[in-house]
Amino acid sequence: MRGTPARDALDGAITAIAAAGCETPRLDAEVMLAHVLGVGRARLLSDRELSVEGPAVRAFQNAVRRRAVEREPVAYITGTRGFRRLELDVDRRALIPRPETELLVEAALELEQGARVLDVCTGSGAVALALKDERPDLQVSASELSEEALALARANAERLGLEVRWLHADLLDGIPDDFDAVLANPPYVADSERGSLAPEILRHEPAAALFAGTDGLAVIEELLCQLAGRPRVASVAIEIGAGQHTAVAQRMRTAGFGHVECRSDLAGIERVVLGARRR
Ligand SMILES: C[S@@+](CC[C@H](N)C(=O)[O-])C[C@H]1O[C@@H](n2cnc3c(N)ncnc32)[C@H](O)[C@@H]1O
Repeated sequence: MRGTPARDALDGAITAIAAAGCETPRLDAEVMLAHVLGVGRARLLSDRELSVEGPAVRAFQNAVRRRAVEREPVAYITGTRGFRRLELDVDRRALIPRPETELLVEAALELEQGARVLDVCTGSGAVALALKDERPDLQVSASELSEEALALARANAERLGLEVRWLHADLLDGIPDDFDAVLANPPYVADSERGSLAPEILRHEPAAALFAGTDGLAVIEELLCQLAGRPRVASVAIEIGAGQHTAVAQRMRTAGFGHVECRSDLAGIERVVLGARRR
């Protein structure tokens, strides 16, 4: 029996995903079908002979159900997400790396040759791994409170063949004081914003990766407090939420980083705060 032409399968999926209220139904359907068929997205449109048949029928139906009914993010359904030059494995153990977090990596690319860097709150390992990939001269370590997320990060490192030292820790607790620079994309969503988050985020991504107290600054404040007692750390870069830059810059200065600057993401939102100690 012939299968369903891929274009027809796509049309049906787009209708179902759009009806569920997802923002990018065509993209979602294309990425999921390309994943199920093991082909590139371009081939879905260019190859008129392509059809969905055999086990792929059930696999695609299942993917569309997860997306449309459960509102699961596409990256968790396909199990992968591109970040900088890497294709990372992702699942519910860790936050899906966001495009704006690539700014944190960009900032770290400016570090001195051979610098010792710690990526705190590493999640899937995205920042640490992308940095090691693009700057193999750096000595990269990464830490995380969730053992489950850390296991995912380690597995990503092994598969990609990238050497990073992995540490299980609550922020800097128990971590050796031998770093020149600290990077972090910590949780920074205010508890009160819970109701405004998309179902993809709220229902599926780990709450511990998102929320940080009444103003979203609890984890950043604690990290900067700990960094105040570590004068050997010469620079810090922290990803923040919209509108948090003034408060974070102030706390960074108080922690001893006399030179502070902010960098904006493509949407014009101040997204990364950088601090350097005046020597
Ligand atoms: C916003 S996610 C960022 C993950 C990853 N860096 C990325 O950009 O995709 C924050 C991460 O911080 C971890 N985390 C939360 N509180 C922590 C703490 N006190 N110490 C270490 N890690 C923590 C969470 O488990 C989560 O993986």
